[in-house]
Amino acid sequence: MRKPFVGGNWKMNTNFETARQLAISGAKSLHDHALDASVDVAVFPPFVYLLPVRDVIAASGASIKLGAQDAHFEPQGALTGEISIPMLRDCGVQVVLTGHSERRHILGETDEMVNAKTRAVLASGLECILCIGETLAQRQAGQTDAVNERQVRAGLANVEKDHLTAARLTIAYEPVWAIGTGNTASPADAQSAHARIRALIDSMYGPQAARAVRIQYGGSCNAANAAQLMSQPDVDGALVGGASLKAGEFVEIVRAAANPRA
Ligand code: PGA
Repeated sequence: MRKPFVGGNWKMNTNFETARQLAISGAKSLHDHALDASVDVAVFPPFVYLLPVRDVIAASGASIKLGAQDAHFEPQGALTGEISIPMLRDCGVQVVLTGHSERRHILGETDEMVNAKTRAVLASGLECILCIGETLAQRQAGQTDAVNERQVRAGLANVEKDHLTAARLTIAYEPVWAIGTGNTASPADAQSAHARIRALIDSMYGPQAARAVRIQYGGSCNAANAAQLMSQPDVDGALVGGASLKAGEFVEIVRAAANPRA
């Protein structure tokens, strides 16, 4: 059985104090209800709030992974404004997002960059969540599965099987048209995309890797729709943006992942 995995991607939101308060109330509630034991939970604050959020998590006693929204693939050097994986490790980061659609489509990241980042994160010993998903135009053109396949194959080029069998690599299926729009994929559409992604992993890495890899759904996931999405057999959790900025709502999504058929 795959352990569900729910991430809260805060994007470029919060300030020093609201980031701390969000972490304090979320960690307390997750820990009080023992939800951090049945679900892997990670939060992805902006870089500059990683350290205060790390300290809040440590003080809470909750089991919550500290995540980074991005990382450069070079370990150091003349790359003004970038943050390296060793720097993130130094700050206690355990898991890094790669290929988020906002980085692909707004900031111009290519499949090659996403692959370099994914390989560098995994080689460093950290966990990686590789984000993929089609745009609205691609969906309307019937290209959903082809786009997902291209992004999985490109993102995982030269990634070793061990990272998948050890569940250190997670895939987040996030249809771009669903992110931040309030338009969620239907549970059936999410299941169908996830099942195809898992079959693709099977063809690339074999059945053991396909069984182990967790596939999160992302895109307007909230407390109201999480239970139905999480009840799908190939949906192993969620990557949550907007709804992760409200501690109570985020906790309800984690609860849905813990009790998918409730
Ligand atoms: P959303 O974002 O939940 O606000 O749609 C999801 C994401 O971008 O990870």
